[in-house]
Amino acid sequence: MSLSILPKVELHLHIEGAAPPAFIRGLAHEKNVDISGIFDEHGSYKYKDFWDFLKVYEAATSVLNTPEDFASLTRAVLEESAASGVIYTEAFISPDFCGGRDVGAWKEYLAAIREAADEAEANDGVVLRGIITCIRHFGSEKARESAICAAETAGDWVVGFGIGGDEKMGALKDFKWSFDCAREAGLALTAHAGEWGGAQSVKDAVDDLKVVRLGHGVQAIDDPALVDRLAEDEIVFEVCPGSNVALGVYPNWRAHPIHRLREAGCKVTISTDDPPFFHTTMNNEYDRLADAFDWDEGVFTDIAMTSAQAAFCDDETKTKILKRLEQR
Ligand code: HPA
Ligand code: ZN
Repeated sequence: MSLSILPKVELHLHIEGAAPPAFIRGLAHEKNVDISGIFDEHGSYKYKDFWDFLKVYEAATSVLNTPEDFASLTRAVLEESAASGVIYTEAFISPDFCGGRDVGAWKEYLAAIREAADEAEANDGVVLRGIITCIRHFGSEKARESAICAAETAGDWVVGFGIGGDEKMGALKDFKWSFDCAREAGLALTAHAGEWGGAQSVKDAVDDLKVVRLGHGVQAIDDPALVDRLAEDEIVFEVCPGSNVALGVYPNWRAHPIHRLREAGCKVTISTDDPPFFHTTMNNEYDRLADAFDWDEGVFTDIAMTSAQAAFCDDETKTKILKRLEQR
């Protein structure tokens, strides 16, 4: 069975984190910036652990500083998505990296990204929508500015709001104002929790920020009562197994809790997070999961449907995506 031909839906992808290393090196060369230290001898991104990964991530992102850079990035990222059979993807986009949270500049970056996404949809049939994300270790004040950027541009393309970054910094409740602001603007909510923060951080995301999806969320597995509650409340897990294995959250694919969460009735979806950093693609995620858990095509089709239903886009777009999944 070839899983590569299955149409796929991805809900958790950081746009800068999806930048191919050669693309970032090209921009660094053009702009005469020396970031050679973030690459290994094979030209891949090099980092020691999650916290070093965040530093390398920000160094790579430092060469993306015009709307046109983000348009080129969007084209490069969606080309890779389409190559794995992705038909719909939601990408995290940060006003921090797109114009320093200035609403006017943000709108210019967003327009460039959307134009590139429209081109990719016309050429490859891959649909992109944006989830605006604040960055936890940049602090709650900057997050408010990001939330205002998100609220100012909420609509049929900017569909969600989230938080990424260092889960061990600050408390999720410090970001309540930002999440309330985004919700009031009509945005759907997700938060990185339970990647590094333990089961309690998952509870905090649901209780304090009222999210309907969890970025990772996998450490909820350590609290069986919480797992039951998340299943009951139909909270959706944006699971990124290759990311978790590459960063050492779990020692190998078989030890990853995605299968146990699914067996417990939780709504799990599959994403790549920052694919070149973790040497993965959607096709690779599918293949490794099939090997680890003996999942067949039926399981993956079921997960793709769950993902489409959990997408933050409008109903018309969702119906189109669901139809394309059913046509297979
Ligand atoms: N985790 C948290 N924050 C992030 C990540 C991640 O994997 N990638 C980019 N920001
Ligand atoms: Zn992530």
